[in-house]
Amino acid sequence: MKGIILAGGSGTRLYPITISVSKQLLPVYDKPMIYYPLSVLMLAGINEILFITTPHDQESFRKLLGDGSDLGCKFEYAVQNEPNGLAEAFIIGEEFIGDDKVALALGDNIFYGNEFGSLLRSKINVEGASIFAYPVRDPQRYGVVEFDKDKKVISIEEKPEVPKSKYAVPGLYFYDNKVVEYAKKVEPSDRGEKEISTINEMYLEAGELEVGVMTRGMTWFDTGTVESLDDASEFIRVLQNRQSTMIGCIEEVAHQRGFIFKSGLQKSIDRYGKSKYGAYLKDIVANL
Ligand code: DAU
Repeated sequence: MKGIILAGGSGTRLYPITISVSKQLLPVYDKPMIYYPLSVLMLAGINEILFITTPHDQESFRKLLGDGSDLGCKFEYAVQNEPNGLAEAFIIGEEFIGDDKVALALGDNIFYGNEFGSLLRSKINVEGASIFAYPVRDPQRYGVVEFDKDKKVISIEEKPEVPKSKYAVPGLYFYDNKVVEYAKKVEPSDRGEKEISTINEMYLEAGELEVGVMTRGMTWFDTGTVESLDDASEFIRVLQNRQSTMIGCIEEVAHQRGFIFKSGLQKSIDRYGKSKYGAYLKDIVANL
């Protein structure tokens, strides 16, 4: 399975912060936002990843993440000229995806939870589509899933004014190769975007959509607003400092997944200078 991280968009809800900096490079506590979705795909065992960015931000992402070889990964980059919607990721990424299955992670979504790694790894061989649902207080901001009383999915709607349930769809999606053909058929919505929810509706109509409800043990943040960005930073700060483990440490995940070995970890330490992040990596190496 390949992975795509969508890190374009205009970020206007965070202006003036994002006028000159990509949203997905902003700090979420002690590391750039993009580290979190990247660590999620890597945790799933995916090490071939395409980053889709705006044309002017691509260079900054390359500077931060390089070709992925330090992490035992293969990173590629592509641009999205205009924020035409999430479904476009599969058209831009068609060649990269080739004949494989693909996972899409939104660059501004953050996940943390018990047994999350094994949940992710169970999605790698998906047939059809596999997405999640997460209960929230403000479902009208998201894609919303409606279930019947047997927990069977009845509908998916993008940002409905009157949501049919409290279940939002988080920005992490697993698809088989048909997603590329489906994406080409998506027409822009009333807000002018090619919606990922339309793709999910197509899979639903084909009887090939699996929706897993994320329960209490999982935490999900979408960092699209100043408040949610601040909440996410605070959450990471509190949890990391209490537990003394890091969330979203890409080198640690690369090592855990067997993409790199002790020598690779050692090599990456220098890059982080005198930071706490660097000290954390040093600690891991010392205890191996
Ligand atoms: O966060 C989950 C939600 O993400 C889902 O519940 C919705 O179904 C989905 O449409 C999406 O809604 P948002 O309104 O939150 O999407 P947003 O415009 O914030 O974009 C999400 C990420 O994708 C963000 O990192 C920017 C990037 N993006 C967005 C668009 C529209 C792109 O790279 N290109 C785009 O064209």
